[in-house]
Amino acid sequence: MEVYFLEWLNLLLRWAHFITGVAWIGASFYFNWLENHLERQNAKGGIAGDLWAVHGGGFYYLQKFTVAPERLPANLHWFKWEAYFTWITGFVLLCTLYYWNAGVFMVDSRVADLSSLQAVGIGIASLVLSWLFYDGLCRSPLARKQALTALLIFAWFALLSWLLSQFLSGRAAYIHVGAAIGTIMVANVFFVIIPSQKDLVEAVNEQRLPDPQKGKNALARSRHNNYFTLPVLFIMISSHYAGTFGHPLNWLVLLVISMVGVGIRHWFNIRHLEKHSPLVLPLSLLLLAALIFALRPEPKLDLVDEVTFPPTATIMPVIQARCVTCHAAKPDHPGFAAAPLGVLLEGEEAVDLQALIIFNAVIVKQSMPLANITQMSDEERDLIARWYAGRMRSKN
Ligand code: HEC
Repeated sequence: MEVYFLEWLNLLLRWAHFITGVAWIGASFYFNWLENHLERQNAKGGIAGDLWAVHGGGFYYLQKFTVAPERLPANLHWFKWEAYFTWITGFVLLCTLYYWNAGVFMVDSRVADLSSLQAVGIGIASLVLSWLFYDGLCRSPLARKQALTALLIFAWFALLSWLLSQFLSGRAAYIHVGAAIGTIMVANVFFVIIPSQKDLVEAVNEQRLPDPQKGKNALARSRHNNYFTLPVLFIMISSHYAGTFGHPLNWLVLLVISMVGVGIRHWFNIRHLEKHSPLVLPLSLLLLAALIFALRPEPKLDLVDEVTFPPTATIMPVIQARCVTCHAAKPDHPGFAAAPLGVLLEGEEAVDLQALIIFNAVIVKQSMPLANITQMSDEERDLIARWYAGRMRSKN
Protein backbone atom coordinates (compact mmCIF):
# COMPACT_ATOMS: atom_id res chain seq x y z
CA MET A 1 0.00 0.00 0.00
CA GLU A 2 2.77 2.40 0.95
CA VAL A 3 4.37 1.91 -2.46
CA TYR A 4 1.03 2.55 -4.13
CA PHE A 5 0.61 5.95 -2.46
CA LEU A 6 4.25 6.79 -3.05
CA GLU A 7 3.66 6.23 -6.75
CA TRP A 8 0.78 8.71 -6.74
CA LEU A 9 2.80 11.23 -4.76
CA ASN A 10 5.47 10.83 -7.35
CA LEU A 11 3.12 11.34 -10.25
CA LEU A 12 1.57 14.46 -8.72
CA LEU A 13 4.93 15.96 -7.84
CA ARG A 14 6.31 15.33 -11.30
CA TRP A 15 3.23 16.86 -12.84
CA ALA A 16 3.49 19.93 -10.61
CA HIS A 17 7.22 20.21 -11.23
CA PHE A 18 6.64 20.07 -14.95
CA ILE A 19 3.83 22.66 -14.89
CA THR A 20 5.70 25.16 -12.71
CA GLY A 21 8.85 24.61 -14.76
CA VAL A 22 6.98 25.32 -17.99
CA ALA A 23 5.50 28.48 -16.45
CA TRP A 24 8.89 29.67 -15.26
CA ILE A 25 10.93 28.93 -18.37
CA GLY A 26 8.04 30.07 -20.56
CA ALA A 27 7.93 33.45 -18.83
CA SER A 28 11.69 33.72 -18.99
CA PHE A 29 11.74 32.93 -22.72
CA TYR A 30 8.90 35.37 -23.27
CA PHE A 31 10.66 38.28 -21.55
CA ASN A 32 13.85 37.46 -23.37
CA TRP A 33 11.90 37.55 -26.59
CA LEU A 34 10.33 40.91 -25.64
CA GLU A 35 13.76 42.37 -24.98
CA ASN A 36 15.03 41.14 -28.35
CA HIS A 37 12.03 42.40 -30.33
CA LEU A 38 11.57 45.79 -28.72
CA GLU A 39 11.20 48.48 -31.38
CA ARG A 40 13.96 50.69 -30.12
CA GLN A 41 13.49 53.27 -32.88
CA ASN A 42 10.28 54.22 -31.06
CA ALA A 43 12.26 55.27 -27.95
CA LYS A 44 11.20 58.64 -26.54
CA GLY A 45 11.07 60.44 -23.17
CA GLY A 46 11.96 57.66 -20.74
CA ILE A 47 10.61 54.89 -22.98
CA ALA A 48 13.27 52.52 -24.33
CA GLY A 49 11.01 50.99 -26.98
CA ASP A 50 7.68 49.34 -27.57
CA LEU A 51 6.09 46.52 -29.50
CA TRP A 52 2.78 45.25 -30.78
CA ALA A 53 1.60 41.68 -30.65
CA VAL A 54 -1.55 39.78 -31.47
CA HIS A 55 -2.47 36.69 -29.48
CA GLY A 56 -5.55 34.80 -28.39
CA GLY A 57 -8.02 37.08 -30.11
CA GLY A 58 -6.64 40.48 -29.12
CA PHE A 59 -3.93 43.07 -29.72
CA TYR A 60 -1.34 43.81 -27.06
CA TYR A 61 0.78 46.94 -26.85
CA LEU A 62 3.82 47.00 -24.56
CA GLN A 63 6.31 49.65 -23.61
CA LYS A 64 9.60 49.28 -21.80
CA PHE A 65 10.88 52.08 -19.58
CA THR A 66 14.53 53.04 -19.88
CA VAL A 67 14.83 53.15 -16.08
CA ALA A 68 11.49 53.34 -14.29
CA PRO A 69 8.15 55.12 -14.45
CA GLU A 70 7.72 58.21 -12.25
CA ARG A 71 5.10 56.48 -10.14
CA LEU A 72 4.33 52.82 -9.74
CA PRO A 73 0.94 51.44 -10.78
CA ALA A 74 -1.37 49.97 -8.14
CA ASN A 75 -0.86 46.51 -9.62
CA LEU A 76 2.68 45.49 -10.47
CA HIS A 77 3.17 41.85 -11.51
CA TRP A 78 6.16 39.88 -10.30
CA PHE A 79 7.45 36.61 -11.65
CA LYS A 80 9.01 34.53 -8.94
CA TRP A 81 6.68 31.87 -7.56
CA GLU A 82 7.03 29.78 -10.73
CA ALA A 83 10.75 29.59 -10.03
CA TYR A 84 10.41 28.83 -6.32
CA PHE A 85 7.80 26.13 -6.85
CA THR A 86 9.85 24.54 -9.61
CA TRP A 87 12.67 24.12 -7.13
CA ILE A 88 10.50 22.99 -4.24
CA THR A 89 8.65 20.35 -6.27
CA GLY A 90 11.92 19.30 -7.89
CA PHE A 91 13.66 18.85 -4.58
CA VAL A 92 10.81 16.88 -3.05
CA LEU A 93 10.76 14.73 -6.17
CA LEU A 94 14.50 14.16 -5.80
CA CYS A 95 13.83 12.98 -2.25
CA THR A 96 10.88 10.69 -2.99
CA LEU A 97 12.30 9.24 -6.16
CA TYR A 98 16.05 9.09 -5.61
CA TYR A 99 16.81 9.51 -1.91
CA TRP A 100 13.97 7.27 -0.70
CA ASN A 101 15.15 4.48 -2.96
CA ALA A 102 18.82 5.41 -3.08
CA GLY A 103 19.89 1.77 -3.13
CA VAL A 104 18.07 1.24 -6.43
CA PHE A 105 18.36 4.58 -8.19
CA MET A 106 21.62 6.09 -6.95
CA VAL A 107 24.01 3.28 -6.13
CA ASP A 108 25.41 1.23 -8.97
CA SER A 109 27.83 -1.45 -7.79
CA ARG A 110 29.55 -1.39 -11.18
CA VAL A 111 30.45 2.26 -10.55
CA ALA A 112 31.21 2.39 -6.83
CA ASP A 113 30.29 0.46 -3.71
CA LEU A 114 28.50 3.09 -1.68
CA SER A 115 25.93 2.91 1.06
CA SER A 116 22.63 4.67 0.40
CA LEU A 117 23.55 7.31 2.93
CA GLN A 118 26.86 8.06 1.23
CA ALA A 119 25.13 8.36 -2.14
CA VAL A 120 22.55 10.79 -0.76
CA GLY A 121 25.32 12.78 0.94
CA ILE A 122 27.20 13.10 -2.34
CA GLY A 123 24.00 14.18 -4.06
CA ILE A 124 23.18 16.94 -1.60
CA ALA A 125 26.79 18.11 -1.39
CA SER A 126 26.83 18.53 -5.17
CA LEU A 127 23.94 21.00 -4.97
CA VAL A 128 25.36 23.04 -2.11
CA LEU A 129 28.93 23.15 -3.42
CA SER A 130 27.77 24.13 -6.92
CA TRP A 131 25.94 27.14 -5.57
CA LEU A 132 28.82 28.16 -3.29
CA PHE A 133 31.32 27.93 -6.15
CA TYR A 134 29.11 29.73 -8.64
CA ASP A 135 28.00 32.49 -6.29
CA GLY A 136 31.56 33.02 -5.06
CA LEU A 137 32.75 33.30 -8.65
CA CYS A 138 30.06 35.85 -9.54
CA ARG A 139 30.95 37.98 -6.51
CA SER A 140 34.69 37.85 -7.19
CA PRO A 141 36.60 40.34 -9.38
CA LEU A 142 36.92 37.56 -12.01
CA ALA A 143 33.24 38.04 -12.83
CA ARG A 144 34.06 41.29 -14.64
CA LYS A 145 35.47 39.15 -17.46
CA GLN A 146 32.39 37.56 -19.00
CA ALA A 147 34.09 34.96 -21.18
CA LEU A 148 36.35 33.82 -18.35
CA THR A 149 33.36 33.51 -16.02
CA ALA A 150 31.51 31.39 -18.58
CA LEU A 151 34.58 29.20 -19.00
CA LEU A 152 34.96 28.69 -15.25
CA ILE A 153 31.28 27.83 -14.83
CA PHE A 154 31.64 25.29 -17.61
CA ALA A 155 34.81 23.89 -16.02
CA TRP A 156 32.96 23.46 -12.74
CA PHE A 157 30.21 21.47 -14.38
CA ALA A 158 32.74 19.39 -16.29
CA LEU A 159 34.42 18.53 -13.00
CA LEU A 160 31.11 17.88 -11.26
CA SER A 161 29.80 15.61 -14.04
CA TRP A 162 33.00 13.63 -14.04
CA LEU A 163 33.15 13.31 -10.26
CA LEU A 164 29.51 12.28 -9.93
CA SER A 165 29.92 9.71 -12.69
CA GLN A 166 32.70 8.11 -10.63
CA PHE A 167 30.40 7.58 -7.65
CA LEU A 168 26.73 7.46 -8.62
CA SER A 169 24.65 5.52 -11.13
CA GLY A 170 24.63 7.31 -14.48
CA ARG A 171 21.05 8.35 -14.06
CA ALA A 172 21.61 9.80 -10.58
CA ALA A 173 24.79 11.56 -11.73
CA TYR A 174 22.86 13.26 -14.53
CA ILE A 175 19.92 14.26 -12.39
CA HIS A 176 22.27 15.81 -9.82
CA VAL A 177 24.06 17.90 -12.41
CA GLY A 178 20.59 19.05 -13.51
CA ALA A 179 19.49 19.68 -9.94
CA ALA A 180 22.69 21.65 -9.28
CA ILE A 181 22.04 23.87 -12.31
CA GLY A 182 18.39 24.25 -11.30
CA THR A 183 19.41 25.18 -7.77
CA ILE A 184 21.75 27.86 -9.07
CA MET A 185 19.02 29.23 -11.32
CA VAL A 186 16.46 29.49 -8.53
CA ALA A 187 18.99 30.84 -6.04
CA ASN A 188 19.85 33.50 -8.63
CA VAL A 189 16.20 34.53 -8.67
CA PHE A 190 15.87 34.45 -4.88
CA PHE A 191 19.15 35.99 -3.77
CA VAL A 192 20.03 38.39 -6.59
CA ILE A 193 17.34 39.07 -9.19
CA ILE A 194 14.34 39.62 -6.93
CA PRO A 195 16.33 41.77 -4.41
CA SER A 196 17.48 43.93 -7.32
CA GLN A 197 13.88 44.35 -8.48
CA LYS A 198 12.84 45.23 -4.94
CA ASP A 199 15.52 47.90 -4.93
CA LEU A 200 14.14 49.26 -8.22
CA VAL A 201 10.66 49.48 -6.75
CA GLU A 202 11.87 51.11 -3.54
CA ALA A 203 13.94 53.58 -5.54
CA VAL A 204 10.84 54.73 -7.43
CA ASN A 205 8.86 55.07 -4.20
CA GLU A 206 11.67 56.98 -2.51
CA GLN A 207 12.32 59.09 -5.63
CA ARG A 208 15.99 58.09 -5.74
CA LEU A 209 18.12 56.37 -8.35
CA PRO A 210 18.29 52.58 -8.11
CA ASP A 211 21.60 50.98 -7.15
CA PRO A 212 23.27 50.41 -10.54
CA GLN A 213 25.46 47.58 -9.23
CA LYS A 214 22.43 45.56 -8.13
CA GLY A 215 20.93 45.98 -11.58
CA LYS A 216 24.15 44.84 -13.24
CA ASN A 217 24.43 41.76 -11.03
CA ALA A 218 20.83 40.82 -11.71
CA LEU A 219 21.34 41.17 -15.44
CA ALA A 220 24.43 38.92 -15.35
CA ARG A 221 22.62 36.28 -13.31
CA SER A 222 19.58 36.26 -15.53
CA ARG A 223 21.85 35.91 -18.56
CA HIS A 224 23.46 32.88 -16.96
CA ASN A 225 20.00 31.45 -16.25
CA ASN A 226 19.11 31.93 -19.87
CA TYR A 227 22.10 29.86 -20.99
CA PHE A 228 21.40 27.19 -18.37
CA THR A 229 17.89 26.46 -19.68
CA LEU A 230 18.66 24.14 -22.59
CA PRO A 231 21.16 21.92 -20.74
CA VAL A 232 18.90 21.66 -17.69
CA LEU A 233 15.88 20.74 -19.82
CA PHE A 234 17.89 18.07 -21.60
CA ILE A 235 18.96 16.58 -18.28
CA MET A 236 15.36 16.47 -17.08
CA ILE A 237 14.34 14.27 -20.02
CA SER A 238 17.61 12.32 -20.13
CA SER A 239 16.36 9.60 -17.76
CA HIS A 240 14.33 8.23 -20.70
CA TYR A 241 17.48 7.82 -22.79
CA ALA A 242 19.78 5.23 -21.29
CA GLY A 243 22.11 5.62 -24.28
CA THR A 244 23.21 8.95 -22.76
CA PHE A 245 23.47 8.42 -18.99
CA GLY A 246 24.32 4.72 -19.42
CA HIS A 247 27.30 5.35 -21.69
CA PRO A 248 30.73 4.55 -20.18
CA LEU A 249 31.71 8.18 -20.86
CA ASN A 250 28.33 9.52 -19.75
CA TRP A 251 29.84 12.66 -18.20
CA LEU A 252 31.42 13.59 -21.53
CA VAL A 253 28.17 12.94 -23.40
CA LEU A 254 26.45 15.30 -20.95
CA LEU A 255 29.05 18.01 -21.51
CA VAL A 256 28.86 17.80 -25.28
CA ILE A 257 25.05 17.94 -25.30
CA SER A 258 25.19 20.89 -22.89
CA MET A 259 27.62 22.69 -25.20
CA VAL A 260 25.22 22.11 -28.08
CA GLY A 261 22.37 23.50 -25.94
CA VAL A 262 24.33 26.58 -24.92
CA GLY A 263 25.37 27.12 -28.54
CA ILE A 264 21.78 26.99 -29.81
CA ARG A 265 20.62 29.32 -27.03
CA HIS A 266 23.47 31.70 -27.89
CA TRP A 267 22.44 31.77 -31.53
CA PHE A 268 18.88 32.73 -30.57
CA ASN A 269 20.26 35.45 -28.30
CA ILE A 270 22.59 37.05 -30.84
CA ARG A 271 20.79 36.62 -34.11
CA HIS A 272 19.05 40.01 -33.70
CA LEU A 273 22.28 41.85 -33.08
CA GLU A 274 24.15 43.62 -35.84
CA LYS A 275 27.39 41.97 -34.83
CA HIS A 276 26.36 38.35 -34.80
CA SER A 277 28.06 35.22 -35.96
CA PRO A 278 25.84 33.03 -38.14
CA LEU A 279 28.27 30.13 -37.65
CA VAL A 280 27.18 29.47 -34.07
CA LEU A 281 24.13 27.45 -35.07
CA PRO A 282 25.69 25.24 -37.77
CA LEU A 283 28.70 24.58 -35.52
CA SER A 284 26.43 23.51 -32.65
CA LEU A 285 24.45 21.22 -34.92
CA LEU A 286 27.66 19.80 -36.35
CA LEU A 287 28.85 19.01 -32.84
CA LEU A 288 25.53 17.28 -32.17
CA ALA A 289 25.82 15.24 -35.37
CA ALA A 290 29.38 14.25 -34.42
CA LEU A 291 28.15 13.09 -31.02
CA ILE A 292 25.31 11.05 -32.51
CA PHE A 293 27.81 9.44 -34.88
CA ALA A 294 30.37 8.76 -32.14
CA LEU A 295 27.81 7.07 -29.89
CA ARG A 296 26.51 4.60 -32.48
CA PRO A 297 26.62 1.08 -31.05
CA GLU A 298 29.24 -1.32 -32.36
CA PRO A 299 27.84 -4.75 -33.13
CA LYS A 300 29.48 -6.81 -30.40
CA LEU A 301 28.81 -10.31 -31.58
CA ASP A 302 30.23 -11.93 -34.61
CA LEU A 303 26.97 -13.46 -35.73
CA VAL A 304 28.48 -15.37 -38.61
CA ASP A 305 30.77 -17.45 -36.43
CA GLU A 306 28.05 -18.25 -33.97
CA VAL A 307 26.97 -21.85 -34.18
CA THR A 308 24.81 -22.52 -31.16
CA PHE A 309 21.83 -20.35 -30.46
CA PRO A 310 20.31 -20.96 -27.04
CA PRO A 311 16.53 -21.45 -27.02
CA THR A 312 14.35 -19.30 -24.79
CA ALA A 313 14.20 -21.98 -22.09
CA THR A 314 17.94 -21.55 -21.41
CA ILE A 315 17.63 -17.88 -20.62
CA MET A 316 14.58 -18.25 -18.38
CA PRO A 317 16.65 -18.90 -15.21
CA VAL A 318 18.59 -15.69 -15.91
CA ILE A 319 15.41 -13.66 -16.44
CA GLN A 320 13.95 -15.24 -13.32
CA ALA A 321 16.98 -14.38 -11.21
CA ARG A 322 17.79 -10.93 -12.59
CA CYS A 323 14.53 -9.39 -13.77
CA VAL A 324 11.44 -10.91 -12.25
CA THR A 325 11.94 -9.40 -8.79
CA CYS A 326 10.71 -6.20 -10.43
CA HIS A 327 9.06 -7.26 -13.69
CA ALA A 328 6.31 -9.40 -12.21
CA ALA A 329 2.61 -8.81 -11.75
CA LYS A 330 3.37 -8.65 -8.02
CA PRO A 331 7.03 -7.67 -7.73
CA ASP A 332 9.03 -8.92 -4.74
CA HIS A 333 11.18 -5.82 -4.88
CA PRO A 334 9.93 -3.49 -2.14
CA GLY A 335 10.26 -0.42 -4.37
CA PHE A 336 7.60 -1.47 -6.88
CA ALA A 337 3.85 -2.06 -6.62
CA ALA A 338 3.46 -3.30 -10.20
CA ALA A 339 5.73 -4.26 -13.08
CA PRO A 340 7.71 -1.12 -14.10
CA LEU A 341 6.22 0.39 -17.28
CA GLY A 342 3.98 -2.67 -17.46
CA VAL A 343 6.85 -4.83 -18.71
CA LEU A 344 5.97 -8.34 -17.44
CA LEU A 345 8.68 -10.98 -17.82
CA GLU A 346 7.01 -14.01 -16.26
CA GLY A 347 6.90 -17.11 -18.45
CA GLU A 348 8.56 -18.08 -21.72
CA GLU A 349 5.82 -16.70 -23.89
CA ALA A 350 6.06 -13.21 -22.40
CA VAL A 351 9.83 -13.25 -22.82
CA ASP A 352 9.58 -14.42 -26.43
CA LEU A 353 7.10 -11.72 -27.29
CA GLN A 354 9.27 -9.00 -25.77
CA ALA A 355 12.58 -10.23 -27.19
CA LEU A 356 13.36 -6.96 -28.94
CA ILE A 357 12.87 -4.69 -25.94
CA ILE A 358 14.73 -7.12 -23.69
CA PHE A 359 17.66 -7.15 -26.11
CA ASN A 360 17.51 -3.39 -26.29
CA ALA A 361 17.46 -2.90 -22.52
CA VAL A 362 20.03 -5.58 -21.61
CA ILE A 363 22.50 -5.39 -24.51
CA VAL A 364 22.14 -2.14 -26.44
CA LYS A 365 21.37 0.33 -23.67
CA GLN A 366 22.52 -1.89 -20.81
CA SER A 367 19.97 -0.03 -18.70
CA MET A 368 18.59 -3.27 -17.25
CA PRO A 369 18.69 -4.73 -14.67
CA LEU A 370 18.22 -1.27 -13.19
CA ALA A 371 21.64 -0.16 -11.91
CA ASN A 372 22.53 -3.85 -12.25
CA ILE A 373 21.04 -4.25 -8.81
CA THR A 374 20.45 -7.99 -9.35
CA GLN A 375 24.10 -8.32 -10.44
CA MET A 376 23.76 -9.78 -13.88
CA SER A 377 27.10 -11.18 -15.03
CA ASP A 378 28.73 -10.53 -18.41
CA GLU A 379 28.28 -14.21 -19.30
CA GLU A 380 24.56 -13.87 -18.71
CA ARG A 381 24.42 -10.80 -20.94
CA ASP A 382 26.26 -12.73 -23.64
CA LEU A 383 23.77 -15.56 -23.30
CA ILE A 384 20.90 -13.15 -23.88
CA ALA A 385 22.69 -11.59 -26.84
CA ARG A 386 23.16 -15.03 -28.42
CA TRP A 387 19.57 -15.98 -27.71
CA TYR A 388 18.41 -12.85 -29.50
CA ALA A 389 20.80 -13.38 -32.42
CA GLY A 390 19.43 -16.90 -32.80
CA ARG A 391 15.87 -15.65 -32.95
CA MET A 392 16.82 -13.14 -35.64
CA ARG A 393 18.63 -15.84 -37.57
CA SER A 394 15.73 -18.30 -37.44
CA LYS A 395 13.33 -15.64 -38.70
CA ASN A 396 15.36 -14.97 -41.84
C1 HEC B 1 15.20 -3.14 -9.53
C2 HEC B 1 14.11 -3.37 -10.39
C3 HEC B 1 14.34 -3.80 -11.83
C4 HEC B 1 15.03 -4.92 -12.26
C5 HEC B 1 15.74 -5.96 -11.42
C6 HEC B 1 14.90 -4.92 -13.70
N1 HEC B 1 14.19 -3.84 -14.10
FE1 HEC B 1 13.60 -3.42 -16.02
N2 HEC B 1 12.75 -1.67 -15.36
C7 HEC B 1 12.74 -1.22 -14.07
C8 HEC B 1 12.22 0.13 -14.04
C9 HEC B 1 12.05 1.01 -12.83
C10 HEC B 1 11.91 0.46 -15.38
C11 HEC B 1 11.37 1.76 -15.89
C12 HEC B 1 12.54 2.65 -16.25
C13 HEC B 1 12.14 4.02 -16.69
O1 HEC B 1 11.12 4.52 -16.23
O2 HEC B 1 12.88 4.56 -17.48
C14 HEC B 1 12.24 -0.70 -16.18
C15 HEC B 1 12.05 -0.76 -17.55
C16 HEC B 1 12.33 -1.88 -18.33
C17 HEC B 1 12.03 -2.00 -19.73
C18 HEC B 1 11.32 -1.00 -20.61
C19 HEC B 1 12.16 0.23 -20.83
C20 HEC B 1 13.43 0.00 -21.58
O3 HEC B 1 14.47 0.38 -21.05
O4 HEC B 1 13.38 -0.56 -22.68
C21 HEC B 1 12.49 -3.24 -20.12
C22 HEC B 1 12.41 -3.83 -21.50
C23 HEC B 1 13.08 -3.86 -18.97
N3 HEC B 1 12.96 -3.01 -17.90
C24 HEC B 1 13.67 -5.10 -18.98
C25 HEC B 1 14.34 -5.67 -17.91
C26 HEC B 1 15.08 -6.90 -17.96
C27 HEC B 1 15.23 -7.78 -19.18
C28 HEC B 1 15.61 -7.11 -16.73
C29 HEC B 1 16.51 -8.24 -16.27
C30 HEC B 1 17.69 -8.44 -17.02
C31 HEC B 1 15.16 -6.01 -15.87
N4 HEC B 1 14.41 -5.15 -16.63
C32 HEC B 1 15.45 -5.89 -14.52
C33 HEC B 1 13.14 -1.92 -12.96
C34 HEC B 1 13.84 -3.12 -13.00
